[in-house]
Amino acid sequence: MQKDTVKIFDTTLRDGEQVPGCKLETKQKLVIAERLDYLGVDIIEAGFPISSPGDFNSVVEISKIVKNASVCGLTRAVKKDIEVAAESLKNAIKPRIHTGIGTSDSHIKHKFNSNRKDILERAIAAVKYAKKFVDDIEFYAEDAGRTDNDFLALVCEKVIDAGATVLNIPDTTGYCLPSEYGKKIKYLINNVPNIDKAIISCHCHNDLGLATANSIEGVINGARQVECTMNGIGERAGNTSLEEVVMVLRQHNELNLDTNINSKLLYDTSQMVSELMGMIVQPNKAIVGSNAFAHSSGIHQDGVIKNRETYEIINPHDVGVNESAIVLTARSGRAALAFRAKNIGYDLTKIQLDKVYNEFLKFADIKKEVTDNDLPHIIKLSNI
Ligand code: KIV
Ligand code: ZN
Repeated sequence: MQKDTVKIFDTTLRDGEQVPGCKLETKQKLVIAERLDYLGVDIIEAGFPISSPGDFNSVVEISKIVKNASVCGLTRAVKKDIEVAAESLKNAIKPRIHTGIGTSDSHIKHKFNSNRKDILERAIAAVKYAKKFVDDIEFYAEDAGRTDNDFLALVCEKVIDAGATVLNIPDTTGYCLPSEYGKKIKYLINNVPNIDKAIISCHCHNDLGLATANSIEGVINGARQVECTMNGIGERAGNTSLEEVVMVLRQHNELNLDTNINSKLLYDTSQMVSELMGMIVQPNKAIVGSNAFAHSSGIHQDGVIKNRETYEIINPHDVGVNESAIVLTARSGRAALAFRAKNIGYDLTKIQLDKVYNEFLKFADIKKEVTDNDLPHIIKLSNI
């Protein structure tokens, strides 16, 4: 059966770049934008053009070089923001303006000192104004995760009438449970009368470590766009991580959903973003962490050497990692030692292996990780 496509909206250069210490120069942003386009993302959020002349310039330059993806600029529901974003996007082949406003009672009261009626009017006016400049308008209902569903549905209906093509439903504070976020998306599908005229987008933050789970619940319940960043970087605990969403959909055939991402480029792209932004990828990060395909305990190593699938659900080649790593530590077993010794030319008999293993354990108790360079020395000490 033909799979439904979930669009990938990458916000590494906007929400990701908001992280303290991650600020990039235009030149570096261009390198990342080009790579994201090549990776197969559908939309690149290139920046928040009104925020600074530098960001404006980055959106202008990115718009000139991106060949396939839509290029998007963020705005508040403010005329000047929209005009500046439209100007910055004028060279884009597929420009998108991303405008919106906070819709939760908390945002309405504390950020805007306003009321629902006024917020609804501002939302409609922003979309109508943006529509004068470009066709593709994404509306975000900031803090939708904590917004009353009836009001959210009303806002969605009215902004679609005003011309919005995509409805972004952000869990801005990363508060929602997956079941709750999924129900919210379903509620909109069932209660916004003109919902067939727009795509629902998930934009989840990771404050409780639920960003990917929430986005997946969102698409299971009918959303067809996910907003994410490479390595999950972003405000506070970050955004939904692109590589996780792509691989969850790819590994779970039964969902009948897929993306346009070339997953073989994921690892290299992750490394590139990490280096340019100066943000290390935690070793245990799903999909792209240095330990994601490393096995160090004896039981797991024995299984993986017999058949990779015993302890790996993803083929490392599918995400651009050369091969699984069998790491030698004091928790490793004979199978791993024999495997690694054979890799560097020592085909040990069972008796030889027993002897080398005893020496190996003494060595491994002192040194955290035993490398290929250490093995000849250990073998020599074993007197075999
Ligand atoms: O998290 C959020 O709500 C956002 C919006 C500005 C889209 O980043
Ligand atoms: Zn965000």
